Amino acid sequence: MLLSGFVGLATIIFFSMVPTPVKAVDQTVDPNLVSKLKMAATMNDRLHMLTDQQLLYNFSSNPMFSWAPGSVCNANAATWPVLSTVRATVAQLNLGPCAMLAPHIHRANNIVVAVSGSTHTYMVQENGARMVEQILTPGMMTIFPLASVHSMYNMGCANNQLYSFLDDSDPGTLNIAQAFFMMPKDIGMQVMPFINLKASNWTATAQQVPGVGTGSQEGFEACRRRCGLAETGYSGGHVVN
Ligand SMILES: *[C@@H]1O[C@H](CO)[C@@H](O)[C@H](O)[C@H]1NC(C)=O
Ligand SMILES: *[C@@H]1O[C@H](CO)[C@@H](O)[C@H](O)[C@H]1NC(C)=O
Repeated sequence: MLLSGFVGLATIIFFSMVPTPVKAVDQTVDPNLVSKLKMAATMNDRLHMLTDQQLLYNFSSNPMFSWAPGSVCNANAATWPVLSTVRATVAQLNLGPCAMLAPHIHRANNIVVAVSGSTHTYMVQENGARMVEQILTPGMMTIFPLASVHSMYNMGCANNQLYSFLDDSDPGTLNIAQAFFMMPKDIGMQVMPFINLKASNWTATAQQVPGVGTGSQEGFEACRRRCGLAETGYSGGHVVN
């Protein structure tokens, strides 16, 4: 199943031409405050260090916020200091028409709740496990257990929103394709000998994997055509870590 994901990915590599802006990872907004919060003995001590305003999080002001093609806006230890001592992350998932999240993993359990639209999800827990597919409509929820590979796309032609809850304030995100292409060419080609390398160059091929960007990427051709969006061509980017 994972392999078929890569075959699809190897196919879309050839349509990726236009670099997307590189944002990729959350920047820690206030490291000094985080270290003070972590040094504090009690939650009451921490609350004395935080204003009411600092106890309010605005997803719309997250630097990743975008609907084109979409975004993953994390409230976590990096973006919302109060969470640095609380084992939780909440991510707002904003998926433009057909937008998808490439296969990725976290070092945390992940529960996703749909607010709007229809979102097709895919999850593989480990070697030997079946692939679990779900369609999330408003009020429906699924789980991607710790370290499962998962992916999703917006099945509709309007914007979709979901919320994602993780049981760690630093769950990380690792995109499988980016990690795969960071391995040496000899290893990668032995796993996937069918990959057509750009100019026989592994690194140049890796750079055609759509970038992490704001956390979401353009959806696939068939969906985009159905939504009347396919004429702009596939928008890819750089490998970013
Ligand atoms: C949240 O952030 C957005 C974007 O910066 C801003 O337009 C909006 O007014 C903010 N909402 C509140 C309630 O502060
Ligand atoms: C392979 O591609 C990379 C990235 O485009 C480039 O820096 C490198 O020089 C290329 N290697 C060869 C042998 O052409």
